[in-house]
Amino acid sequence: MSHEDFPTENPAVVTCGLPYANGDLHVGHLRTYVGGDVFARSLRKLGQQTAFVSGSDMHGTPVAVNAAKEGVTPEEFALDWHEKYEATFPKFNVEFDNYGHTHDETNTQLTQDIVRTLDENGHVYEDEVMVGYDPEADQWLPDRYVEGKCPYCGAHARGDECDEGCQRHLEPGEIEDPVSTLTGNTAEYRERTHKFFRVSEFQEYLQEFIDRLEGTSNARNQPREWIEGELQDWCITRDMDWGIDYPDDDASEESDGSLSPSDTDDLVLYVWVDAPIEYISSTKQYTERVGAETYDWEQTWKESGEIVHIIGRDIIQHHTVFWPAMLKGADYNEPRAVMASGFVTLGGKGFSTSRNRAVWADEYLDEGFHPDLLRYYIATNGGFQQDVDFSWEKFRDRVNSELVGTVGNYLYRSLLFAYRNYEGTPDAPLSDEVRERIEEAQSEFGEAVNDYNVRKAGTAAVRLAKFGNEFIQRNEPWKLTDENPEEAAQVIRDCVQIAKAIAVLFEPIAPEKCQRLWRGLNEDGHVRDVGIDAALDDPAASFDEPTELFEKIEDERVEELNEKLEARTAEATADSEDGADSADGEETETDDSAESSDGDVTAELEPLTEERIGFDDFQALDLRVGEILAAEGIEGADKLAKLTVDIGFEERQIVAGIKQLHDLDALVGERIVVVANLEKAELFGVESNGMLLAAGDQADILTTHGDAEPGTKIQ
Ligand code: 2FM
Ligand code: ZN
Repeated sequence: MSHEDFPTENPAVVTCGLPYANGDLHVGHLRTYVGGDVFARSLRKLGQQTAFVSGSDMHGTPVAVNAAKEGVTPEEFALDWHEKYEATFPKFNVEFDNYGHTHDETNTQLTQDIVRTLDENGHVYEDEVMVGYDPEADQWLPDRYVEGKCPYCGAHARGDECDEGCQRHLEPGEIEDPVSTLTGNTAEYRERTHKFFRVSEFQEYLQEFIDRLEGTSNARNQPREWIEGELQDWCITRDMDWGIDYPDDDASEESDGSLSPSDTDDLVLYVWVDAPIEYISSTKQYTERVGAETYDWEQTWKESGEIVHIIGRDIIQHHTVFWPAMLKGADYNEPRAVMASGFVTLGGKGFSTSRNRAVWADEYLDEGFHPDLLRYYIATNGGFQQDVDFSWEKFRDRVNSELVGTVGNYLYRSLLFAYRNYEGTPDAPLSDEVRERIEEAQSEFGEAVNDYNVRKAGTAAVRLAKFGNEFIQRNEPWKLTDENPEEAAQVIRDCVQIAKAIAVLFEPIAPEKCQRLWRGLNEDGHVRDVGIDAALDDPAASFDEPTELFEKIEDERVEELNEKLEARTAEATADSEDGADSADGEETETDDSAESSDGDVTAELEPLTEERIGFDDFQALDLRVGEILAAEGIEGADKLAKLTVDIGFEERQIVAGIKQLHDLDALVGERIVVVANLEKAELFGVESNGMLLAAGDQADILTTHGDAEPGTKIQ
């Protein structure tokens, strides 16, 4: 990787994956947007010129299918949701510089221009393709109008993506055993003429691109298999009314005539063509509003910009294969980084919109919780690419211990002491110890941003507060005020500086709370607008009595919230069992509005086994702690990975069906549970000497959390 560290001289743009405008947002959806907002604010803190943009994804079958269910036009339907999203994001302090939508004039024009350029540059051709058709409905069946079996992994899949299996993008005609989602009938395949983008021509380019790409390791590694395999061309048109028209007329005038209007008149562009182009359109709209001297979208996208895409991990392929090829083919800049987040589960299970098993974004706020608490929870609960579980208990625990107990407690006790004894900051120089500790926090923050590590950037301030608590405890200023007033003043001067540094470094995570702290410290302006250097600027000489920044969440609140969630889940489940959700196959989930598979893992559990076994039977299983030393995909096998596992006495080679479900690099170092005395087996020609334990379809791998060494028996 050859990119210069942030901050660079170039303008940056941080984009968030566009939510489909088709349903309510729940806290799971917020992960990408909060992550994006934290990252954009963090870049600005480092002095990087940054635009933060996104927009609503208005087109495609996800929207058309749901609009039809409500009996309204897709445009009305999508605009309605777009307006709701536009109002919701700021409530979580997710402040886009521009939030547009894919159906607006800017995006329509730019999409058609880019497609024309791709055609003029020779990257588009016409071909016959078999497309699903429902004779009873007399309708073509693009994308989500058809379901069936994934030809790569055999999982049940949507027409355009293997959402329950290998996560691959599927081309029209690829899905096996197609069934119409309109009528439930078996779909026919009929021949149609469509437009194709020659992705295959970009293979060499993409292989080099992926070596340069920065971001999370899942986004850099997962695509290698696709890019190194045979790259398929990409069908970029669909038989639908809803979408951006294929630019026939203009193209035939401007190009060599290779496009024929009669063939493409009734085709719209595939939603995945115009959706990422909204990243550019949205940046362009921002420039139109603020002027190119403030932010120049053309410099970012066409000359020398730092383009960072923040997405859910289910859309890595689109952002690391199709999109960079499109940008290259249309003479635009390539992305510098792709950060792909894990999903969010609710109490260990998937969110389910149809069962009303979700904590809705509006509901969270209506319950009176501050947005910054949720921002902290979802941005720092695990690594960005790891799945995060949300439960009211875990939320309470982290708020009470980290925000109230560590950060809030430090700020209140130190600032109250400063106020009562000095009415602000005592007149004393900053000690070397505290200066160095703040410098350390600044470096930690800067390195985390350059490593695309949102969690670490977010917790640099919390670690500083922890130090602050330890510092004040160790120095006991309350004893020093009489015994040694000079030293007392020095300690409290240090403490106020730490508080100021927390305001600066924690702002990307908790912007509103930090602004309150900033004003409380009698600082001017907005803490959002200061760089990390401000952490070491002299604090104001006087300030008012502080108030507590964070409030404890009581256990009763958690019980009450859990009861509400259970009651409404039960109600929705009963309704659907009564047939209220229609038994005609129309129960299409709407939770794909932002991260399409952030988990409608419905709560269908396998029944418990009635037959009991004796303890001896259990003891016959030799379960051991194993440490993963290496993990790699098995070439040619879609699902299988080969692991080298240290089980204390020896290293074992274990084959497991986790290739598509985990970031294999990230597994190295994990301590897992191994069945050590299982008979050896051969899978895909590779010997497997043991088995790892994992739960559910997504292979949630069982890990140990204490200090049990490899080889320790599990009993
Ligand atoms: O998967 C989705 O939810 C899509 N709406 C994301 C689009 S992101 C983009 F524009 F590239
Ligand atoms: Zn698949």
